[in-house]
Amino acid sequence: MNKKFGVKILSTGSYFPKKVLTNADLEKIVETSDEWISARTGIQERRISEKNEYTSDLAYKASLEALKTANITPEQIDLILVATVTPDMFFPSTACFLQKKLGLMSIPAFDLSAACSGFIYGITTARAFIESGLYKTILLVGAEELSKITDWTDRNTCVLFGDGAGAMILSASEESDDVLSTYIGADASYSDLLFIPAGGTVNPATVETVNAKMHTTKMQGRDVFKAAVQKMAFAAQKALEFSGKNLEDIKLFIPHQANMRIIEAVAKKIGISMNSVFVNIHKTGNISSATTITALDEAIKTGKLQNGDIVELIAFGGGFTWGAAVIRV
Ligand SMILES: CC(C)(COP(=O)(O)OP(=O)(O)OC[C@H]1O[C@@H](n2cnc3c(N)ncnc32)[C@H](O)[C@@H]1OP(=O)(O)O)[C@@H](O)C(=O)NCCC(=O)NCCS
Repeated sequence: MNKKFGVKILSTGSYFPKKVLTNADLEKIVETSDEWISARTGIQERRISEKNEYTSDLAYKASLEALKTANITPEQIDLILVATVTPDMFFPSTACFLQKKLGLMSIPAFDLSAACSGFIYGITTARAFIESGLYKTILLVGAEELSKITDWTDRNTCVLFGDGAGAMILSASEESDDVLSTYIGADASYSDLLFIPAGGTVNPATVETVNAKMHTTKMQGRDVFKAAVQKMAFAAQKALEFSGKNLEDIKLFIPHQANMRIIEAVAKKIGISMNSVFVNIHKTGNISSATTITALDEAIKTGKLQNGDIVELIAFGGGFTWGAAVIRV
């Protein structure tokens, strides 16, 4: 592709619902223990949205923060992308609801579905739009309310997930090139290891599908674990290779926060110390497409990253999908 512009990352923002669900709270819901959850996953608590607080509400609040940090008005945005597997509705898209909440009209807005790799797919998409010259200022959001697609009687899954949203504003630039590389992949041979069986065209909603709890996340944890380690390490190496950088050039690695043991295994496989890996899973749990962006935002806010630092975001999710991006903040 003939590249017309570089990409400047103007800002990030994030938002979490107020309600905290601790492991001790979960002990009252299913047969589990703080000890088991902490040791096997690294998660201590997660945020849970209210009944009348929607994915687009979280996306909106994260977007407002990103707009404020970038010091731009919503009117300067010319495309909205929302990565999510927990949209407000099948349609209209959550991006459309977000557009309305931002008081915008006319600009294109659409959702991206790539499960927990959604934000990396989103950066890849935003980058292509900006580099081609098609759009100049893009609001990219990863927003999820996984609590609303969770079977709260299934201890194999309900301890893992949480809610939250992160936003990034990217714009066309003649000087900067903050997205050094992206790499994404997918393999549907494993689609039945992590999925929601019903609600789509395969199993439209019926009383039976509801009673059989087919509208909530089903997962083969051990198999997903193994694939996550393999694919995240592979994606990290590929994106690094495409960026022309070395491991030593990366100030911070921000992997998808699904399980602390997955993060440690990926770090070992890539050959990096945990000192250069950002972790906030203990506070958030797995928030799918919102993990890497909220973690990036926290790393910036807490001073772990300074202007000009190079970061690698790495993700893996249902599909399977995977990806990594080397960016400059
Ligand atoms: C889900 C996961 C934490 C389970 O950990 P694990 O070490 O693989 O545990 P296992 O599945 O082998 O289960 C071990 C035992 O703990 C039990 N167990 C499962 N969940 C439990 C819970 N919340 N509390 C207590 N015990 C639990 C199992 O029933 C099993 O008991 P059994 O040996 O009597 O059958 C882990 O496999 C994982 O994180 N997988 C990847 C998940 C993921 O990242 N998904 C999203 C990807 S984007």
